[in-house]
Amino acid sequence: MRHFLTTEDWGQDELQAVLDRARALKAGASSSALEGKSVALVFFNPSLRTRTSFEIGIAQLGGRGIVLDARSGTWPMEFEPGAVMDGDAEEHVIEAARVLSRYVDMIAIRCFPKFENWEAEREDPLITAFSRHASVPIVNMETIVHPCQELAMMMALQEKLGDVKDKTFLLTWVPHPRPLNTAVANSAILMASKFGLNVRMLVPDEVYRLDERYMSAAAENCAAHGASFDLTTDVEAAYRGADMVYAKSWGALPFYGQWDGEAPYRAKGSGFMVDEAKMSMTNNAVVSHCLPMRRNVKIADNVVDSPAFLGIEEAENRLHVQKAMLEALARDSETI
Ligand code: CP
Repeated sequence: MRHFLTTEDWGQDELQAVLDRARALKAGASSSALEGKSVALVFFNPSLRTRTSFEIGIAQLGGRGIVLDARSGTWPMEFEPGAVMDGDAEEHVIEAARVLSRYVDMIAIRCFPKFENWEAEREDPLITAFSRHASVPIVNMETIVHPCQELAMMMALQEKLGDVKDKTFLLTWVPHPRPLNTAVANSAILMASKFGLNVRMLVPDEVYRLDERYMSAAAENCAAHGASFDLTTDVEAAYRGADMVYAKSWGALPFYGQWDGEAPYRAKGSGFMVDEAKMSMTNNAVVSHCLPMRRNVKIADNVVDSPAFLGIEEAENRLHVQKAMLEALARDSETI
């Protein structure tokens, strides 16, 4: 049975097929792929785009989405194997996954890391446990990666640039008042590298390197395409000639769980907001962000409000790529 936990498990051709189908759905193709089926949407964290686009998309495919708000509407959940459950958790994911599998045909999960212990959280324990114990496909709605966002980003990029191979993709760290999840940054370099773009990462300091798992995967993907993969702290070198600028803020992993120590490094990036001066160094680049986004902190108003900004298109594309992926998973599970 196929899950959609990370794009690392899916080949470029398979992902391109999903993107092609998403374009057809966006152009008006109809589908009843989820007729008579239900999907549980389990949220451990807030959402605007993900919840709305999944609920609407499932309905458009003829199915039913059941939202479970795990912060208030379900039992606190344990996911450690062998845990002695004498704390807050009332339910183990083993039972939750098995029971939901009796009711619904797929389970989608949003569960951000707790920002306490990266060595444990880098194993993505909750969604991994769900995928082990459920008997239906599991979809990642953002954990330590955000694969649905990756697809939406690539769809927007292909719509704008056509063939993206050999174009230059810049992932720039941007300011934010507090450390954020690395999921979208991990995903951005996975996807851009898988599709053969030259990938540059701009960070205020080397401490903002992403987990080596994603740095290595992206470097290997780039090498397989004959593309380059670079990390730099030099703003001008990063922006010069870029075809796409992707803005994201994230916390530095060496300070995970002890964030006070990160403050001096975060301050080094105080001038990293995407603005017109930086964009003028690019190859007339497009710019995007996964949203939500703090205006005039991450990206300046006059860039967000310019034709170069793809963030709204990318957000719309969440609907189409998720429908295409749910279709693919439904098709796969019917052939078992
Ligand atoms: N980009 C994204 O996942 O948006 P939400 O957090 O609003 O779902």
